Amino acid sequence: MKKTILIVDDEEDIRDVLAITLADIGYEVLTAENGQAALSLFKEEHPSIVMTDIKMPVMDGIELLRRIKQENRDTEVLMVTGHGDMDLAIKSLKNDAVDFITKPINVDILEIALKKVEEKILSREKLLEYTEKLETLVREKMELRDHLSALGLMIGSISHGIKGLLTRLDGGIYFVESGLNKEDVDQVKEGWEVVKLVVERIRKMIQDILFYAKKRDLEWKQVDAVIFADEVAKTIEPKIKEQGIDFRLDFDTEAGQFYIDPGFVQSALVNILDNAVDACLKDTSRSDHRIVFSVRPDNGNILFEIHDNGIGMDSATFEKIFTLFYSSKGRKGTGLGLFIANKIVRQHGGRITVKSTLGKGSHFTIYIPREIPVDDENAA
Ligand SMILES: Nc1ncnc2c1ncn2[C@@H]1O[C@H](COP(=O)(O)OP(=O)(O)OP(=O)(O)O)[C@@H](O)[C@H]1O
Ligand SMILES: [Mg+2]
Repeated sequence: MKKTILIVDDEEDIRDVLAITLADIGYEVLTAENGQAALSLFKEEHPSIVMTDIKMPVMDGIELLRRIKQENRDTEVLMVTGHGDMDLAIKSLKNDAVDFITKPINVDILEIALKKVEEKILSREKLLEYTEKLETLVREKMELRDHLSALGLMIGSISHGIKGLLTRLDGGIYFVESGLNKEDVDQVKEGWEVVKLVVERIRKMIQDILFYAKKRDLEWKQVDAVIFADEVAKTIEPKIKEQGIDFRLDFDTEAGQFYIDPGFVQSALVNILDNAVDACLKDTSRSDHRIVFSVRPDNGNILFEIHDNGIGMDSATFEKIFTLFYSSKGRKGTGLGLFIANKIVRQHGGRITVKSTLGKGSHFTIYIPREIPVDDENAA
């Protein structure tokens, strides 16, 4: 692409000769007869180089130089001085002119000066490019560092969690073995339940870690919301029923289709349903526990609701539920469930809202847009 150069001189002959010469060299040429005319042309055309005489009526070259640098510091201004105007030449350089040449203008010298200008522009562009690359690099490195330190933190807390689970697993195995020795089927069953429960918890923990550690792209699929919700319900139903909790489904058959990564959204909803089960089990104030799982359309969204009449939350807990590793469950919880559920829903361009009353229960609402978010990178 041709660079534009603005020639400023009050003598028409000089302007003409320079215009022809510079056009020959390969520039797009603009001309102006004084500083003021040059400045307004400059504001319109944004030439990358200005070549100006110093002594001109209305606005002289030095003033023009100052004003151009105010407008755009990156514009290169080449000064043309009369023979012996050394003080003006110095003044120009002090005001950030790239160079000066003296009248009468020698074409070879002009070309050398312009080459210098071009090199300066090129190196500035390169510098800018490097700076941008460097910034990207620094940003990526910082992201990596955050990710690693979160991962490190997670590994610490998980190792701790697994240690606790292994102790319980040992307990379960001991029960099974001594039950077998005594041929006590009930004790074997009891021990076996513990083993199964612990294995299930470890499986969930590992899945969570894998999800968090490996940032894989979503695999979008068009899915029927009710069929999908039904599958989610079937996954968790045995666990809920086993605990003697009433599990009610309230599916709007008109909900229709939406685009999601089914595996991810299922794990988000199961995490929230898991919590509802825990909340019911923790509440000893009543025995008629109930979890309601519903799905319905809401404008451009599919809306899932999970309602439990379990223990509820106080405001201190409520504030922290989406925080990584926040758990009120001691050894029974890792604090990954809602952090991950929230992350998944956000990746889908959706959101989770929560209402909860201590002693009464909690109500989670999950909004998921029907369509794939435009910027699914950003949603993460
Ligand atoms: N339905 C709910 N009722 C009451 N408290 C809840 C409910 N859901 C979440 N919480 C609170 O939010 C905390 C964080 O939940 P989250 O699912 O992230 O972790 P967790 O269940 O403790 O552990 P994990 O899911 O990793 O096994 C819980 O420990 C609990 O205090
Ligand atoms: Mg949980």
